[in-house]
Amino acid sequence: MTAPAGDVLVLFGITGDLAKKMIIPALYQLVRRGELTVPVLGVALTDWDDDRLCAHMADCVRAALADTDQEVDESALERLQRSTHLVSGDYADPAVFTRLADAITAAAGPTAFAVHYLAVPPSLFGTVADGLAGVGLHTRSRLVVEKPFGRDLASARALQALLAKHYPEDRIFRVDHFLGKEPVEDLLVLRFANTLLEPLWSRHWIDRFEITMAEDFDVADRGSFYDAVGTVRDVVQNHLLQVMAYLLMDAPLSDAADDQRDAKARLLRAVRRLDPTDVVRGRYDGYLDTPGVAPDSTTETFVAATFHVDDWRWAGVPVHLRAGKALPDTLLDVVAVLRPPPRALFSGGLGTMRPDRIRLRLQPRAGITITLLAKQPGQGDVPTGIPLAVDFREVLGPVHAPYERIFADALAGDPAHFARMDTIEQAWRVVEPILDPATPPSPYARGTWGPEAAERLPGPEGWVPLPPSAPSAPASTAPVTPVRPEGALAR
Ligand code: BG6
Repeated sequence: MTAPAGDVLVLFGITGDLAKKMIIPALYQLVRRGELTVPVLGVALTDWDDDRLCAHMADCVRAALADTDQEVDESALERLQRSTHLVSGDYADPAVFTRLADAITAAAGPTAFAVHYLAVPPSLFGTVADGLAGVGLHTRSRLVVEKPFGRDLASARALQALLAKHYPEDRIFRVDHFLGKEPVEDLLVLRFANTLLEPLWSRHWIDRFEITMAEDFDVADRGSFYDAVGTVRDVVQNHLLQVMAYLLMDAPLSDAADDQRDAKARLLRAVRRLDPTDVVRGRYDGYLDTPGVAPDSTTETFVAATFHVDDWRWAGVPVHLRAGKALPDTLLDVVAVLRPPPRALFSGGLGTMRPDRIRLRLQPRAGITITLLAKQPGQGDVPTGIPLAVDFREVLGPVHAPYERIFADALAGDPAHFARMDTIEQAWRVVEPILDPATPPSPYARGTWGPEAAERLPGPEGWVPLPPSAPSAPASTAPVTPVRPEGALAR
């Protein structure tokens, strides 16, 4: 069921960091393309007026476009500024919500359906929901809430109870910005719009998966936020388990939002709770010197873990995943390693031949590379690894930023790219055994792939080597090491 479209967008936390870096630039792009035509009301505890807010919005847009080849479209910026107004005050003060109700009526009429976007700390979600309900705004609006949704299963449920007092599930949209990434959604299209991959996508042909989310930068000025969170809560429980669900779930009954979310929930229910002996936690050297980090912190900045999916399709196929900061590169990458053929027909046998691999590069340059073995020209049947590779940007053009899609969908009332509560609960269940360990993580040097123990997590040969992410070497041109069976060179 599609919810009503929003007549007005209310942005709680409009003066905050997320709004500055992500949300305001995304709203500008939507206005520029004619996809945001409703008024915007910003709410924040501030002494700014509309003029000051407009100047701030212009700064945000200019800063966001500075590193791109796009010029600022002044008339679009002006349209955004003209349609935005500020309601200032403390969210705990009921008078703020009375003023907000008046502002909504003035901007969009007395029966307007509002989309309330909460870019505020989760500790304020309940206060805002209560405030909206206090003036009756909850009956004609939906809530869009940012991550993190809880710190564990119990706190996620407690948070949900606060929202559910006033809002039914179909009017709560939980943001996971990875669900707004085109290449993440493309996992579904690649898998279910083609017949090439799907027959291979099971324990019969796939030996294992490897998922890597790497960032080559450190925690920087986010020390106090990050130290309370760590890699598992920051990106694994949410972003990466959502990616894993798209990668492994069965075909949804249709592309309707709830059919997709049912399929994801079913997959996540089959993911086994993590076993701490299948997990390596790491912390880059120097992390403890970051402002805001506790001297006795046990927070991880890297994690590698093996997941098991106890369903018919994936029984016995490990999913190795690693994520972290201060690693050698910035990328999101999935590799499916196929099983070897049943018999060694070519010289040297199968023992030293690498199996076929399907690499789905999700960022920074999305693409697919299938590594096959083909005959090396010359004498004998010497198999050599060759890439079949496509860089999606070269073929399909640039993609929209995740927050542009998130806002467009939140306004339109399409919940497909938001996390449903049951998937969030399942994800907390899976990671719960590795939350908050008392011991510090193992150290690793910046610019390496985490602690040494993580290197061997997938087995003695380690992880499949990753082509670098540099724009000069996108997925389509990434070098693939030729593979020769032992003895082939001697022939
Ligand atoms: C955020 C995390 O949710 O996702 C950050 O808090 C992380 O720590 C970021 O860097 C990664 O998102 P993206 O879109 O830059 O890959």
